[in-house]
Amino acid sequence: MDIKKAYQQQIQAEWGHLADYWYPLVETNCLAKNAMIKVKAFNFNYLVWKNKQGEVSVFLDTCCHKQAPLSQGRLLQNQLSCPYHGWQFDHQGDCSNIPYSTEPSDCDKKSLVKLGSKNSGGIIWFFPGDQALENNEKDKPTYHDWQTLTGDIVKTEEFDCDEQALIENFMDSPHTNFIHSGLIRKPKQLKTREIAIYLDAQQKLMVDHLPSDETLGPFNWFINPSKNPTHHQDMFIAPSQVDIQYQFEKDKTNFRTQIIMCPIDHNKTRAFFKISCQFRLFNPLIRLGLKLFLPLVLKQDKNIVALQFNNPSKLSQFKGDFIDYDLYSYQVKLLREQAKTKQPSLGLISSVHRTSLKL
Ligand code: FES
Ligand SMILES: [Fe+2]
Repeated sequence: MDIKKAYQQQIQAEWGHLADYWYPLVETNCLAKNAMIKVKAFNFNYLVWKNKQGEVSVFLDTCCHKQAPLSQGRLLQNQLSCPYHGWQFDHQGDCSNIPYSTEPSDCDKKSLVKLGSKNSGGIIWFFPGDQALENNEKDKPTYHDWQTLTGDIVKTEEFDCDEQALIENFMDSPHTNFIHSGLIRKPKQLKTREIAIYLDAQQKLMVDHLPSDETLGPFNWFINPSKNPTHHQDMFIAPSQVDIQYQFEKDKTNFRTQIIMCPIDHNKTRAFFKISCQFRLFNPLIRLGLKLFLPLVLKQDKNIVALQFNNPSKLSQFKGDFIDYDLYSYQVKLLREQAKTKQPSLGLISSVHRTSLKL
């Protein structure tokens, strides 16, 4: 079997169609020209190689000769040289030289597994799955959703849990009262909030916290001085994107955290965060505050999701006792299942579910 087919079969068997989407792999500025790095994703290692011209190629980190890891090799004159027998490959992944071979045609038809990649919005994206689906414009590529503006804060963080657990955490409002007590919410001022949970026409899962006098921790005085009602929406877009938006003014998203995730393996997830704020006043000051505040919040989330996901007493056959609001986590599961199998999931909600929470 040819190397590309073998790779496709293996990734498909392990991840199904979840691999047939664009994923963020690494921030572009992690890599200089004429350099390469190894990045783990989907339980494989990938080699990201930026050539002298600054063009990026992404390969499976395995040589087509005897599968040595190419990331341990060297870059020579815009050629990648394998650490084991020194076979050389060009930036397209085609074999260009076998130093000890006497037959020039030995190089023919020998190439690495090259993945689709895009350098967009400060991130190198890749398409781990079926290359025939890579340009499928029906599914809007994920990188189209990631447009950075000056002043946006971008951060990458790795978590010791799978994507499902992490998505649930980012969508989860009530945990903020406990895990981030004092940072995001003031637990002494809990008030009842109306919540609407529904799927929009594009099957985006919306958890809509209807306009209320919700406050946002110590920043509230700065960011919402007129004390306008806060409209807060948590959204999930399959397979692995969360979008959290706050509006204090009409027709304007004042605060937005966008998170796009990529599995490292089945127990680890890498998340790329983009935080944008557009307040009436003090934007640079608030951004500075957020830069200091974000690592504190993420540290608390990292700890709790690692404890929860790796709890040795976790029961595999128990689904959890839920209240109404927890419906969203089951919907995330179904939407991800649908993305994995490309078969419609039964149990997705077709109407608006209303509930309330004390936040
Ligand atoms: S394993 Fe790469 S050259 Fe032999
Ligand atoms: Fe959190």
